[in-house]
Amino acid sequence: MQIINRAPFTIHHFATLGSTNDYLKDLADAPEFTCVIADEQTAGRGRRTRTWFSTPGEGLYLSVLLRPSAATNIALLSLLAAVAVAETIAQYNVAELDIKWPNDVLIGERKVCGILVEGASSGAHASRVIVGIGVNLNHQQFPPEISATATSLALQLGHPVDAAEFRDRLLARLAHWYAHWQNDAGRSIVERWQQLSSYARGQAVAVTLADEQVTGMTAGLTKDGALVLQLPDGTRRVLLVGEVSRLRKGL
Ligand code: BTN
Repeated sequence: MQIINRAPFTIHHFATLGSTNDYLKDLADAPEFTCVIADEQTAGRGRRTRTWFSTPGEGLYLSVLLRPSAATNIALLSLLAAVAVAETIAQYNVAELDIKWPNDVLIGERKVCGILVEGASSGAHASRVIVGIGVNLNHQQFPPEISATATSLALQLGHPVDAAEFRDRLLARLAHWYAHWQNDAGRSIVERWQQLSSYARGQAVAVTLADEQVTGMTAGLTKDGALVLQLPDGTRRVLLVGEVSRLRKGL
């Protein structure tokens, strides 16, 4: 394991881990801004019990520990991470960059980054939040089950990406937005997210919830980062969770 300092972050860099989120969760006394990175994850986790494809040396698999002082809105922290990733990717002049609510970063409608934010309480400690980020940097191919929906930055650019440089750029954007978040309780993050996402407003979508599917037109986010949907009957519904997919045609 190698320690790398990138203030305010202290990076613990491993060749292999099961999951960087799980490793960081077990580091009960780790200070805020501890960052765990692995070149490979053998048990990388996605949202909804999915796995995260984490082949050696091809992606950025990173988890950051935050200890927010105020009561934490985890949903906003996941929007924050998506904004930081999208702004980092934008530095590479990629076309068709997008964020799908809440926090999938897409290039040309294909997923290039997934984010898994988890709370981890630990007795007397302040609240601990682990922000896990997986970015497909240099993958040239994906397994069949995701090959139609995933992409990598290298595939989009036509050349490989320096992982350490991407990491440092991303950590800088995370630090920037976290400082904002502490000052204005997330208002600027919600605004920035809406600027970066084509899904924010006026987009016909289907949203899959635990036991139903709703369709409607997106009508922005609430200040807490929930998605507002205008339903065909004219009423509005505020969604806190759900899997969004774009409807090509109108309702
Ligand atoms: C998703 O399903 O979109 C979320 C994927 C999150 C993957 C990252 S990779 C680093 C961190 N460690 C994990 O086990 N998962 C997250």
